[in-house]
Parts: sequence; C-alpha cells; structure tokens
Amino acid sequence: MTEVTRADISAAFKAAGAVQGDTVMFHGSLKSMGHVQGGATAVIDGILDASSPGGTVAAATLWYNGNPEECKKEDFDVATSPTWTGLLAETLRRDPRSLRSNSFSHSVSAIGSRARELTERHGEGRPFPSPWSEQSFAEISPWSKFYQWNALYAFIGVDMNSCTMKHYIESRFVAELLDQLPPERYTEFRSQIAMDCRSILWIFYPGAKMRPRLEEKGIVTKVPLGDTTLMTIRTRPLVEATLDILRAEPENWCTPEFASWLSRVKAARLS
Ligand SMILES: CC(C)(COP(=O)(O)OP(=O)(O)OC[C@H]1O[C@@H](n2cnc3c(N)ncnc32)[C@H](O)[C@@H]1OP(=O)(O)O)[C@@H](O)C(=O)NCCC(=O)NCCS
Repeated sequence: MTEVTRADISAAFKAAGAVQGDTVMFHGSLKSMGHVQGGATAVIDGILDASSPGGTVAAATLWYNGNPEECKKEDFDVATSPTWTGLLAETLRRDPRSLRSNSFSHSVSAIGSRARELTERHGEGRPFPSPWSEQSFAEISPWSKFYQWNALYAFIGVDMNSCTMKHYIESRFVAELLDQLPPERYTEFRSQIAMDCRSILWIFYPGAKMRPRLEEKGIVTKVPLGDTTLMTIRTRPLVEATLDILRAEPENWCTPEFASWLSRVKAARLS
C-alpha cells in the first residue's frame, strides 16, 4: 500500500490544474489513495496548499438520503447534521475552519478565502427546478458559484457517478425547456415532473456514461495519486459540454417516460 503525504496531495492537485487562488471542489475516497499520513485532514490541507495563497477547498456535505419517510427536511441542522458522502467530506464539515451552506438536500462545506462567499445565501435568487427543492440549485447557491467561478472539480478515486454538479446541469436543462413554453402552460408541465422530494419524472443522466464523452473533448485531466487516479475538469466546460450533449441527443440520456414528457413540451412550444 502506497504511503501518501500532504505534499503528495498538493503536487497531484497542482499537476491536475490547481492554481493560486483556485476554488477546488472534490468528491473522494480516502482509502483509494493508499495510506494517507495525517488522514482526511492532510488531504484537505494538501488541496489548500495546491491553491494557496488565496485558495478554497469545498466538498458536498449532503445530508438528505432521498427517503422522505425517514429523513424530514425540517430536521436538517446546518451546524450538526452529518453527511453521508464519506470521511473526507465529513472531516471537512467538522473542521473548525469550515463553513457550511444551508440546504437540507445539497449543502456544501468549504475552507479558505472564498468559503464564506461560496456558502452564504444558498437558495436565494431565481429558483430552479430540481427533484428536491427549487432552492437546492438556485441562482444563488454554491453550485451556481462553482460554475460562475469555473472551479476545479475533482474526483479522488471515484467516477463521475459521484458528480453532484450533474444535478445542477439537469436543473438548467429542465429549466431551459420549461422557459420555452407559453407562460400559461408552465405550471401544468412543471407539476408533471419531480419536485419537493416526490419522485415523478426527472432526467437523471448517468454521470459515469457521460465521462468518456467529456474525455473525448480533451477537457478531463487525470494524474496518479498514490494507488488511485485524481481526475479533474473545470466546471464551466463540464456544464457547457454536458448541456450541449443533452440538448443534441436527449433520447440517449433519459428514460422513455422523460423522453415522452420532452416531446410533449416541444409540441406545446409550437402550438
Ligand atoms: C462511498 C465512498 C465515500 C467510499 O470511499 P472509502 O474510501 O471506502 O471511504 P471514506 O472515504 O469514507 O474513508 C473511510 C475509509 O478510509 C479508511 N481510512 C482511515 N484512515 C485512513 C488513512 N489515513 N488513509 C487511508 N485510508 C484511511 C477507513 O478505514 C475507511 O475504510 P474501511 O471502510 O474499509 O474501514 C466513496 O467511494 C465515494 O463514493 N465518495 C464520493 C461520495 C460523494 O461525494 N457522493 C456524491 C453523491 S451525488
């Protein structure tokens, strides 16, 4: 098993594109790297080193588990509710330096120069559709800021099925379709798809299947990190390339039921 140090983490993130002042968002598996000296905190500090001075490190500290029977959104406490996304994210959330955004479904925790700016006011501004709430991926949310800031989006030993940003992309894809409707048909079509944690219909495109398509475009970087691979992509090309693919060939990325909703939207747009 490879021994991995904070300096190794920093070197790998620099090789994978992190620069001074960057915002780095990650999903990861601690044990995939080998044995990390200093554990999860050394990983977080290594990422901060790679983006210092002025860097920010962030992770998805999701709490809601998708089951409204056992997980009531009113029970979410931004200060204490643990995340299920693994030890790296949970360690970041519990770090005394860390700030956390207030979203029962898609909270982000961050440390560093832009941590406050990243995590504050989650859910404000224009609401956007999502199966959880219209605030989860709102105009003002860490997910929108990752896109606007073109954050470095990283996967440590995990594939793009872990990519929470994909729900932001889905949200923008669905919003774009709804926006094309005559205003008087909006509510009718919105009510036919998932909302408020009720799963009706949604375009859950498979993230791992999308990865090779993004790799083909030359926008994915891979570097070795201990026993695993660190994969990174800039958030703006991630969002824009994926949206282009979804728009061009939606039938390859959604269920027949969602495809049928999509054709009804298109018909209503023309009527
Ligand atoms: C599920 C997942 C977290 C599992 O990864 P993991 O490495 O097994 O688990 P964690 O990252 O929580 O780390 C805990 C593991 O690290 C080990 N560990 C503890 N200290 C360690 C150290 N210093 N060095 C290396 N490993 C260590 C622990 O023993 C534990 O392994 P075990 O369960 O076999 O005992 C990971 O595969 C994943 O999917 N991460 C992304 C999750 C995410 O962001 N999802 C978003 C969904 S939209």
